[in-house]
Amino acid sequence: MWNIALVFLCLLIIATYIFIIRPLIPLLLLKAKLGDKAIFMFYPLFGFIGLFMKSIKTKNDAMETVNAALRKNPKAKIILSNLLHKPCIMLTGSEYLKDALTEHQHYEKMNPFMIDSFIQTGLILSEGDRWKRQRMFLGQAFTFEKLKSRIQMMNQVVKEIVDKDPKTNLNEFMSKITGEIVIKSFFGELAEGLRLEGKEAQVALIQLTTDINLIQFENPFVLIKSLIFKERMWDVLPTKQEKDIVRRVNEVRTKVKEIISRRIEQLQENPIQDEDKMVFLDLYVTEYIKQQKQQQQLINVNEILHQFITLFFAGTDTTATTCGTCLYYLAQYPEIQTEILEEIQEVAGLDEIKEQHLNKLVKINALVQEVLRFKNPAFATIFRIVKNDMQLQDLKLKKGWAVVEMLNASSVQENYFENATEFNYKRWLNTTNIIKNDNGFIYIPFSAGQRNCIGQHMAMMEAKVIIALIVRKYQIILNPEVKQIKFGIKFLQCVEPDNCLLFEKRL
Ligand code: HEM
Repeated sequence: MWNIALVFLCLLIIATYIFIIRPLIPLLLLKAKLGDKAIFMFYPLFGFIGLFMKSIKTKNDAMETVNAALRKNPKAKIILSNLLHKPCIMLTGSEYLKDALTEHQHYEKMNPFMIDSFIQTGLILSEGDRWKRQRMFLGQAFTFEKLKSRIQMMNQVVKEIVDKDPKTNLNEFMSKITGEIVIKSFFGELAEGLRLEGKEAQVALIQLTTDINLIQFENPFVLIKSLIFKERMWDVLPTKQEKDIVRRVNEVRTKVKEIISRRIEQLQENPIQDEDKMVFLDLYVTEYIKQQKQQQQLINVNEILHQFITLFFAGTDTTATTCGTCLYYLAQYPEIQTEILEEIQEVAGLDEIKEQHLNKLVKINALVQEVLRFKNPAFATIFRIVKNDMQLQDLKLKKGWAVVEMLNASSVQENYFENATEFNYKRWLNTTNIIKNDNGFIYIPFSAGQRNCIGQHMAMMEAKVIIALIVRKYQIILNPEVKQIKFGIKFLQCVEPDNCLLFEKRL
């Protein structure tokens, strides 16, 4: 009996050392050195994630604890927290963000899926030469000139899904639209009728990517496993739900690879000549065939699969949540909704949204920018791990520490925006002095530097089409049955609950 108690006590001491004392000491030393420049927010075990969860519970807003602390101490440039057993440095000051985002090669991104062979060799997680090659290659597909050929498809997708969807679950409704747009941008006509796991492809992929992300938030056992074992976590005492996710990932992988291989055969026989007509898959496959002929094969079928999942992951929920939050504010402020509706009627009448309308939808543009300032879904970057001991401004970072760039930290501070805590889309209609003391890293909803968001023009284009078509057709109102709105986190920051809005058809 005493032996068991002794073993238990030893384990407890070891666990306390590993999970609390070891990360705590360097954080306390940093706090002592930096004083007011650092805010101390250590949260045993769950750290950064626990901080947001508590903020949702106590303030109905995941970011409010951090934002309030930064407002109280405007000198603060970093938050000292933890990610399980690692010190986690949350960068909030724009000078630190500037250096960290510019010198991105010092940090390795943590795979948010923690799953092998799904997105590792896609653009988000690639590094070094592979990242440079992919960024240059994909860059050509994301110019306005190339994207404008997708506007008509975007209109069609919005119309079809708006008519079909019950519109009772905001996030699901929005992500069906944005997911379908990414799938059609990638696969073009091959996406027609595409089904995965017996469901429409975008529905299956949304469920799968959401389940992978949420399992770590909802189940502390899985979160701890993921932080310790990373990609190997799925093999360590897998739960039934984890086994099911692995099975579904394999199924999706096999099906998508089949489509890619079929397209390679088709384009080997009948190459497409007009580059402007090429969807992402065709651009990739054409390059694949070219490299094959030159016997310089850098791209393979796996990379194309990973790129598809990467773009789906990066482009679906981000844009969906942005649009959902815009619709929420339109319901919250009916006078803004009227102004936006008038703009749409003036600019496009009853037409579908066309290229020439986009620049004229200045109020919708301002609305989206204000949402990205105030409640950016991508409020922080993916966790980074410091590769080697290094200096960041006056901070000594140790190999293995976690770093996260808080992209919205400055956006809601009075130092940088007039009446920063007020939602006021009209600020973006001014042409000058919108951002005070700007060093280029204050308002960065799409991140900044070389690894900024490659899809930002596509996102803005989509948001304009989606908001214009929905607002013209429906009056959006707050659901009176919902007593409390929250800004929670489903991997991204989003408005909750899902049934917070009602859509009433306009006469
Ligand atoms: C409102 C919508 C969007 C927001 C707020 C957003 C935000 C971001 C942010 C903050 C990053 C940097 C992430 C990090 O470094 O950890 C990023 C990167 C990225 N985004 Fe977006 N994004 C949006 C839409 C899109 C769309 C529509 C696509 C493509 C279909 C896309 C594709 C990507 C890719 C591939 C990267 C990685 C770029 C690289 O590492 O070189 N995003 N995005």
